Amino acid sequence: MLYRAGQTDIDVMAAIHASAFSPKDAWGRDVFSLQLGFPGVFGLLHPSGGMILMRLAADEAEVLTLAVTPEVRRGGIARSLLSQATTTAAAMGAKSVFLEVSVANIAALSLYSRAGFIQAGRRPRYYSDSTDALVMRFDSQDRT
Ligand SMILES: CC(C)(COP(=O)(O)OP(=O)(O)OC[C@H]1O[C@@H](n2cnc3c(N)ncnc32)[C@H](O)[C@@H]1OP(=O)(O)O)[C@@H](O)C(=O)NCCC(=O)NCCS
Repeated sequence: MLYRAGQTDIDVMAAIHASAFSPKDAWGRDVFSLQLGFPGVFGLLHPSGGMILMRLAADEAEVLTLAVTPEVRRGGIARSLLSQATTTAAAMGAKSVFLEVSVANIAALSLYSRAGFIQAGRRPRYYSDSTDALVMRFDSQDRT
């Protein structure tokens, strides 16, 4: 059901992102086009309205962004995008996956901790609204 995103999907990715984030935080089609052109970056799409973008460098991967359209939330789409993306990253050589998430983002914090991510650091006042970011890490060998 999930499929690998390519340059022909940048409008879909931007539309999903715009539905999930505020206008100031939404990424446009140019950003997705640029990101997908970088070495080590890959995206996955869910046809119902979900997307994840990952970057792999050496043996570490990073979740660059993850978004699910509000109308289809709580259906397991993010869980499946995250699971497939971490599996893909591990197959490409990633030993660990990192991400940053706001301490105020209860939905994402719950998603990540239930997926096996653990807190690896904290960046005070990281976001424009002055909330802290948690750095979270998932080790591929911990997959159950
Ligand atoms: C966070 C987000 C990606 C979750 O997408 P989703 O498809 O609804 O998530 P899933 O259905 O896969 O949920 C998996 C688990 O995450 C947690 N979760 C998801 N949404 C939640 C919510 N609103 N409140 C509490 N926990 C939540 C739950 O543990 C859930 O499991 P459960 O449904 O069995 O209880 C989505 O809410 C979103 O796009 N938010 C805006 C963008 C964003 O914050 N992106 C992440 C930035 S770091």
